[in-house]
Amino acid sequence: SGQQLLAGRTVLVSAGGTREAIDPVRYIGNRSSGKMGYALARAARALGAQVTLVTTAPLPDPSGIATVRVESAAQMQQEMTDRFATSDITLMAAAVADFAPAEVAKHKIKKQPDTTGLDLQLQKTPDILASLGKRKRSDQFLLGFAAETDDLLKNASAKLAAKGADMFAANDVSNPAIGFGSDNNRVTLLTKDEDPLQLETASKDDLALNILKQIAIKLRDN
Ligand code: PMT
Repeated sequence: SGQQLLAGRTVLVSAGGTREAIDPVRYIGNRSSGKMGYALARAARALGAQVTLVTTAPLPDPSGIATVRVESAAQMQQEMTDRFATSDITLMAAAVADFAPAEVAKHKIKKQPDTTGLDLQLQKTPDILASLGKRKRSDQFLLGFAAETDDLLKNASAKLAAKGADMFAANDVSNPAIGFGSDNNRVTLLTKDEDPLQLETASKDDLALNILKQIAIKLRDN
């Protein structure tokens, strides 16, 4: 039945913003709440899949879903990589930091009376999606999200081409009513061969179901 479109499938989802430690008490983070990733994990479960959620978000474990807690991009890469080969569908909804402190201070960085500023050296983090894209088999489906503030479709198309994903969901994060932290979102689905598919603004739950139905149809027709 339609309810069980993903029965027998394994789905791996990442959610939330990574936290990159500066010292034992401070980190560099971003505005991702994890809501989009959790909605995808719940929707996949509702469609009958066996789901694993790798998350940084301070939200409760969703029921019936194996939940793995991580903090940094490096930890998320490890947990996603370990599970990728056994996943039919992988959804990268997490907002992964692009840069992290080159070194983590062992002790809390102190402010002296004569301190006027602090220089932080950052280095590039691993690109998790791109590394999964390189390992992807033809029987697997990989979805990325593109968080853009300008030139939405142009920037998202470039990421689709660069990262080896099957599909990208492009969302405009400059609009506070959709995107980071909100309960609603609007995405355009991009694939290599088809015209962009603009989905209506909807709750992240409804949107997640809609995205997974599109993916299930593609897997079935493969
Ligand atoms: O969590 P919410 O508050 O519900 O907000 C949802 C969301 C806006 C965070 C989500 O819909 C979204 O857009 N997630 C992707 C955020 C992001 O990192 O986008 P990006 O355009 O910078 O990255 C493109 C893709 O590469 C993403 O799938 C990202 O997970 C992945 N990536 C990026 C950098 C990196 N080092 N490793 C990655 O895997």
